[in-house]
Amino acid sequence: MGKPLIKITPPGPKAKEYLKKDSKYISPSYTRVYPLVAEKGKGCWIWDVDGNKYLDMNAGVAVCSTGHAHPDVLKTVREQTEKLIHYSGTDFYYPPEIDLAEKLAEITPGGKNRKVFFSNSGAEAIECALKLVRYHTNRHYCIAFYGSFHGRTMGALSLTASKQIQRKGFYSLVPGVYHVYYPYCYRCPFNLSYPDCDFYCIDIIEDTLFRKVLPPEEVSAIFLEPIQGEGGYIVPPQGYFEKLKKLADKYDILLVDDEIQAGMGRTGKFFAIEHWDIIPDIVTVAKGIATGFPLGACISKSGIMDWKPGSHASTFGGNPVACSAALKTIELLENGLIENARRMGEYFLKLLKEIEQKYDIIGDIRGKGLMIGVEIVEDKNSKKKNKKKRNEIVQRCFEKGLLILGAGENIIRFCPPLIISKQEIETGVEIFEEVVRGY
Ligand SMILES: Cc1ncc(COP(=O)(O)O)c(C=O)c1O
Repeated sequence: MGKPLIKITPPGPKAKEYLKKDSKYISPSYTRVYPLVAEKGKGCWIWDVDGNKYLDMNAGVAVCSTGHAHPDVLKTVREQTEKLIHYSGTDFYYPPEIDLAEKLAEITPGGKNRKVFFSNSGAEAIECALKLVRYHTNRHYCIAFYGSFHGRTMGALSLTASKQIQRKGFYSLVPGVYHVYYPYCYRCPFNLSYPDCDFYCIDIIEDTLFRKVLPPEEVSAIFLEPIQGEGGYIVPPQGYFEKLKKLADKYDILLVDDEIQAGMGRTGKFFAIEHWDIIPDIVTVAKGIATGFPLGACISKSGIMDWKPGSHASTFGGNPVACSAALKTIELLENGLIENARRMGEYFLKLLKEIEQKYDIIGDIRGKGLMIGVEIVEDKNSKKKNKKKRNEIVQRCFEKGLLILGAGENIIRFCPPLIISKQEIETGVEIFEEVVRGY
């Protein structure tokens, strides 16, 4: 598909008209970083309304896993749309929802004995998990991590601790959530180094939080992201989740694994938690599950999903078209795209690591598969977060036809469609380096 092509500096005239209308009618709470007005997509490429062509390393924020307009997904969706668009799976039955539940149960770590609740979004999948752990354990508290993002509905927001603006003005949230430090080794909050730290960040939960504040036998669950997404593409070290699971098991606390951003093959395994040796009790998915159709799911060990009819449901959750798209997406992931994410991710990381050495403003590069974060700092020595330069780099890449996004305060995230090729990665890295060179 060649190279990006910027015919007219964005926003062009048509884009400008839409931006004007948008500012009049669309909620100002959205966080647009650059004025991309997308018209169509194909593979890893996006065209804006003025005909500019961009290389997409966002995938609509880690969603379009099989790329834009994948012919097999289009065919499946077209066929399902002609058969049945909606019939509310919480009140009736239809094959795509049941087939997808069976498939998800089959592929979720820990064996087939799973039950699935379908929603329309990631936040709703988390809401389901939050209600479920309370219902099942009859315990009121739960634990989440600083830096985590689990969504913006009131329950999910109570777990989210990424940016203060996401919470400001919305008091009171769901009570009973305590936050602990995520294993962010590049910036260890305890100023320790892995592996000598021996996971002090876990010990302190037991030694301080459980002793002084929070009775562990009243904690229902720990909500975790296997790789922190919105918080900055932070990869916990080997051994971390195994030790956390031991702590959870000691007090019969459930582990809820939020795979909404990191899952669905992006990291080179179906679920990112499979990079560690643990089985979570509950797994939530959304984003990449249906290549862009709104769908979320909360998958739990069957004994845990023991609630009664009427206790939780959703009109649109498990929509037949979205479920069909998900079944096709999973088939494509299993038939090569997860492997492509693993191989291309390694190649991508290798190219980025080569440029890391050359530029003092690149503090850290990390990731698994096609979930890669680049930390922009004032200089390697001070590690001081450089949000301004990060924002400028994202903007300049956009102007040159490369779509990337920020995460955390000073991190750039690369989360392209899983179909990406070597050549497309080279093109992206070339543009990225050209921009970084200017700083
Ligand atoms: C890890 C994680 N959980 C939950 C969510 C919320 O998903 P949604 O925006 O579909 O509600 C997100 C969204 O970015 C996410 O990255």
